Amino acid sequence: MEPDKAMSPSSASSYTSSIHYDRRLYQQDIAGSIAHARMLARQSIISKGDAQTIVRGLKAIEKEISNGTFPWKPELEDIHMNIEARLFEKIGDTAGRLHTARSRNDQVTVDTRLYAKEAIHDTVARVSNLQRALLDLAQANKDVLLPGYTHMQRAQPVLLAHHLLAYFHMLQRDKERFQECYRRADVLPLGSGALAGVPYPIDREFLAKELGFARASDNSMDAVSDRDYLVEYMADAALCMAHVSRLAEELVLWSSQEFDFIRLDDQYTTGSSIMPQKRNPDFAELARGKTGRVYGNLMGLLTVLKGLPLTYNRDLQEDKEGFFDTVDTLQSTLEVMASMVGTMRVNPKRMRQAAEESYILATDLADYLVAKGVPFREAHGIVARLSVYAADQGKLFKELTLDEYRRFSLHFGQDVYQVTLESSVAARDVPGGTAPSQVEQALAQARGLLAKADTG
Ligand code: ARG
Repeated sequence: MEPDKAMSPSSASSYTSSIHYDRRLYQQDIAGSIAHARMLARQSIISKGDAQTIVRGLKAIEKEISNGTFPWKPELEDIHMNIEARLFEKIGDTAGRLHTARSRNDQVTVDTRLYAKEAIHDTVARVSNLQRALLDLAQANKDVLLPGYTHMQRAQPVLLAHHLLAYFHMLQRDKERFQECYRRADVLPLGSGALAGVPYPIDREFLAKELGFARASDNSMDAVSDRDYLVEYMADAALCMAHVSRLAEELVLWSSQEFDFIRLDDQYTTGSSIMPQKRNPDFAELARGKTGRVYGNLMGLLTVLKGLPLTYNRDLQEDKEGFFDTVDTLQSTLEVMASMVGTMRVNPKRMRQAAEESYILATDLADYLVAKGVPFREAHGIVARLSVYAADQGKLFKELTLDEYRRFSLHFGQDVYQVTLESSVAARDVPGGTAPSQVEQALAQARGLLAKADTG
């Protein structure tokens, strides 16, 4: 850029302008203004007639914006100034009465809080949708077994439903966190003025009620400069993305030829421009990758807030872009994941084969010896040696003869062949365990949680 251009007034205002992103707050801004105008009239701070004119003007402006005919003016910097200037054009000087007993400082945060509340609501609904997709898949594959992993090594057999329910519960906690965040976003800052309150007999209870807030804020200086509720949303979103990203990673692995546990629907894979055999899991990879920007947005806002003196500082305008990006990214990711999980096909044969062609029952053999009176540590050693032997022979446990077993411990008897994948999962019959009866209850419990979310 030429130096003189960089210094021109228009580029100075493009530097401070936020209209290209805060225009998405237009409905909230208009709702806030309508409530404010009504309150001013009720309190006889402005006349009823003026309030009516203002409200009518604001409603007309809302229509203009929603049908795309609103004349946006970037030089007016933000959504508040754009709407106010347009109100002057539409109703003349009466427009000047709207900003009585208000500042852009309490106005902007009332808008953002209203927006955040809706965003939380939508986010929670989308988390529920992903939970529902996981639950349906679990229910439809209730008897499917696969290896459970630790260290990416086949460890013990588990039910697929048990594995999927693990994600259900991560998401359940995410939802609870968002609901907590909602409680703190649900506070009306309007009436704080620029920072110290306003010298008019306003009615904040009425404002809170009109705008659907649970209550009004306690301290005007805090109210105009607090962005905790955005940090919280972004932190909750970061954790939710971490969970979703783990699921995405498993889908990437499971859909690989090496695993072949699932087949993602065609709409969620892409071919390679050069290797025709490929079905790349791009959507799952992007769900994993987009986690980065959500973490980044959180760090960004925390850094903006750090060291800001009270009260409002223009730095706070930097709160919105990252927040909006986080809302968009999380919500679209949840939507994609719900539909990806809902359309993928499970390959129970391959899952079972992966469990069978392994030494996944080693723990169960040790437990078998424990049942015969061998101390667990000793049993562990015996089965460790047995596993090395079997691997050397190129045999699975079930292919070893009883003689071979008995070379390692005379406690082995014919009933060792009754240790199977099924007996292994059935044995883990503790609350929270993978036994079919426990998983059956867990599925019912999860259904209950979702039903409660739908009605509550
Ligand atoms: N666009 C501003 C923001 O997002 C609105 C508040 C401006 N207040 C002020 N005193 N300049 O923070």
